[in-house]
Amino acid sequence: MSAHLLDVVGLERHFDGLKAVDGISFSVAPGEVVSIIGPNGSGKTTTLNLVTGTIPAHGGTITLDGVRIDHADTARIAEQGVARTFQNGRVFATLSVADNIDVGLHSTLHASRPFRRLSGVFLLRWIPLLAELFIAVVGTPASRREQRRIEEVVETEIHRFEARLRPRRDDPAYSLSYANRRRTEIARALALQPKLLVLDEPTAGMNQTETAEVLSQLLELKAEGQTILLVEHKLDLVLTVSDRVIVMDGGRIIAQGSPEHVRRDPAVVEAYLGRRRGLGGEPE
Ligand SMILES: Nc1ncnc2c1ncn2[C@@H]1O[C@H](COP(=O)(O)OP(=O)(O)OP(=O)(O)O)[C@@H](O)[C@H]1O
Ligand SMILES: [Mg+2]
Repeated sequence: MSAHLLDVVGLERHFDGLKAVDGISFSVAPGEVVSIIGPNGSGKTTTLNLVTGTIPAHGGTITLDGVRIDHADTARIAEQGVARTFQNGRVFATLSVADNIDVGLHSTLHASRPFRRLSGVFLLRWIPLLAELFIAVVGTPASRREQRRIEEVVETEIHRFEARLRPRRDDPAYSLSYANRRRTEIARALALQPKLLVLDEPTAGMNQTETAEVLSQLLELKAEGQTILLVEHKLDLVLTVSDRVIVMDGGRIIAQGSPEHVRRDPAVVEAYLGRRRGLGGEPE
């Protein structure tokens, strides 16, 4: 088995004639924070979409912890230990903060959702439905234990964003500030205790204070040993938090290495930084 948690080899994805991801290879070791940077449209989100199974690949392989996941669907990949957030943020607007965090955990239920594998079998799918209804109404010791565990995990995640999310715990997501919605989404991903946390521009639309808060939370997660694959435009944050940086342009990797290495790479300055006004620039 590989020493890497994530191994991507020759990954490809095109949209009609456009090669959005053009044969890229990279890996992420356990406990590493790896960031992907690059200009708008360089293929960063597409790469994350491929790793998380949001869209299928047209070529290449993706291996997580020794298991091939490049033909698995999102639910299966989540079960394998990959959780993500989205570039534009995705929360359930009418659910409370706590329920938004809790909702991700339902995919991990076993005692409350027996026979769940049968739900994909047309003639037998009423069996899991009836079993779940019975357990929801009557409950079993195992399902009650599972429920308590879920409540504990939700509390842990609310505690992580204590000052911001605790006061809003029971408020519907639509009433939250943009930054709090993004925090709720990160909390939901973390509640799954993923082997690999995938974040697509977690600070997009945040002001400096909010961005600094996310940075310190990322550093805490890193100190806890969380493996992270991050896409982010704010280069100061990327250079501070990352063990390694991958630079994409036109669907290809044009450079990768330590933050110091990447910062000095002439191809990076040319393709990425040169289009803005130096390090720390925002996307156009
Ligand atoms: N579903 C889609 N259908 C058609 N083209 C797409 C689709 N998704 C992405 N693309 C194209 O693929 C290329 C890469 O897009 P991608 O979203 O991966 O870029 P990105 O690096 O995340 O950019 P940004 O920094 O703006 O978020 C772009 O040219 C984009 O227009
Ligand atoms: Mg993107």
